[in-house]
Amino acid sequence: MSEARVALVTGSSSGIGAAVARLLAADGVRVVVNSARSVDAGRALAAELPGAVYVQADVSDETQATRLVERTIEEFGRLDILVNNAGTTRFIPHDDLAAASPDVWRDLFDVNVMGVWHTITAAVPHLKASGSGCVVNVSSQAGVRPGGSSIPYAVSKAAVNHMTRLLAKTLGPEVRVNAVAPGLIDTPWYDGLDPVAAEGAKSHVAGVVPLRRVGTADDVARAVVDLTTAAYMTGEVLLVDGGGHLLG
Ligand SMILES: NC(=O)c1ccc[n+]([C@@H]2O[C@H](COP(=O)([O-])OP(=O)(O)OC[C@H]3O[C@@H](n4cnc5c(N)ncnc54)[C@H](OP(=O)(O)O)[C@@H]3O)[C@@H](O)[C@H]2O)c1
Repeated sequence: MSEARVALVTGSSSGIGAAVARLLAADGVRVVVNSARSVDAGRALAAELPGAVYVQADVSDETQATRLVERTIEEFGRLDILVNNAGTTRFIPHDDLAAASPDVWRDLFDVNVMGVWHTITAAVPHLKASGSGCVVNVSSQAGVRPGGSSIPYAVSKAAVNHMTRLLAKTLGPEVRVNAVAPGLIDTPWYDGLDPVAAEGAKSHVAGVVPLRRVGTADDVARAVVDLTTAAYMTGEVLLVDGGGHLLG
């Protein structure tokens, strides 16, 4: 069994997840890098990080998510940190109710909610065995305040926040469960939006939030990594939004 702590970071081929994987690896943590589709990017990141491996898996699929946790144990013999970062959305104006179809709801919930559930349920025995196991879910400010890329997305992240609190009550004292809720973070996430709209959203946020800039993947990664060592915190949803939640 490896002596170093081991982390599984879902959706870590890009953006926030990649920044989390880098920071954890810099702290000497062995990291499993994961994505569903961007295999080359995931492999390239794992090759860059000391002791990291890449495992392809779609977390919305229970069998693949379970296998992802099993592969982590096969590689490293332990699991101390589970970062549920994989997520997806559709950019749908909130008043376009027809566009937020049942298929969209199901797709977003399968990844953003069930994906979190699948990895946690598979990981719990290993996190308990760790002696200091923890989960950090990457939620969204959209799950706290009524905004975000679409209504199904915002509701999925609100579900993740509530799951975080329920599991923190259930899994203590062995396993801590927290979440970070980012505001607008400049990552490839916005590649799914019309470039003019994406730039408009970024400059709007940078103009109004108290810290007067959009967030970076490193801003969120720092908060995630801090939560992995915050030994007396559980059930917390930590906003990382430049103070955006303070706006009326
Ligand atoms: N950027 C923001 O403004 C913002 C704000 C609030 C919250 N967030 C949250 O932050 C998290 C990361 O987003 P990001 O901004 O870093 O976006 P990103 O750069 O697009 O990264 C998303 C990552 O998730 C992976 N992924 C998507 N579906 C997956 C699945 N079913 N199974 C495994 N991996 C999957 C992607 O890989 P593949 O698709 O290639 O498989 C990619 O590695 C998401 O949960 C998002 O909801 C982002």
